[in-house]
Amino acid sequence: MITLKSSHEIELMRQAGKITAAARAFAGEMVRPGVTTQEIDSAVEHFIRKQGAVPSFLHYNGYPASACISVNDEIIHGIPGKRVLQDGDIVSIDVGAYIGGFHGDCAATFACGQISPEAQDLIDVTRQSFFEGIKFAKEGHRLFDISAAIQTYVESHGYSIVREYVGHGVGAQMHESPEIPNYGHPGRGPRLLRGMTLAIEPMVNAGTAAIKQMPDGWTVRTLDGKWAAHYENTVLITDGEPEILTVPVI
Ligand code: MF3
Ligand code: CO
Repeated sequence: MITLKSSHEIELMRQAGKITAAARAFAGEMVRPGVTTQEIDSAVEHFIRKQGAVPSFLHYNGYPASACISVNDEIIHGIPGKRVLQDGDIVSIDVGAYIGGFHGDCAATFACGQISPEAQDLIDVTRQSFFEGIKFAKEGHRLFDISAAIQTYVESHGYSIVREYVGHGVGAQMHESPEIPNYGHPGRGPRLLRGMTLAIEPMVNAGTAAIKQMPDGWTVRTLDGKWAAHYENTVLITDGEPEILTVPVI
């Protein structure tokens, strides 16, 4: 069942979304050579709690941190630790904040120092694919119209869509119905209705789509070792233009 949020619930989700997006921007500003991923995670946790919210990811299915920080060939769910960021790395940071009974969920890939033009293009195409997708995030369309637009844009740039992980509804629960694949056929999937709140999150590999799961039980990497990028926002469906609840400052 896909929940439809009331106007009061939407107002609460705006608040959660603002804090989550601010946490993402704050995390992104910390990305520089010499910093460890656990330093970023601790600062993000402090930032979220200072706003009166709770980190959504901490202890979720046993996840041990507040942010997912995935570097270079890590796609998603990287566990923050002692890894020191290097000049030229690309750093995907995913954060969630829970306040007033609702979650915000968003992610972006950041450049550490000076990155290659190829890495920048991967980041740019991944981010733009989200915006191509949400052109269809309104009443009158079906869910996989979004999926298909993301897939078409990404593949037309020679990159691959990760299949095993997908976007999702978000609200009182971090993961709600429906699943939102970043690939699919236009004209299919559930009809979009005002009041749906969706976390749309393309995960894009520079090489092949194949992934491998790391022994830590969380980190997901590309199988071929080529790099990957991630971009996510929490989006409200309306009868007109979609409203991005995790208001992007990047
Ligand atoms: N933001 C991730 C998602 O959209 C959730 C991270 S998994 C967690 O699915 F366990 F770290 F929370
Ligand atoms: Co998500």
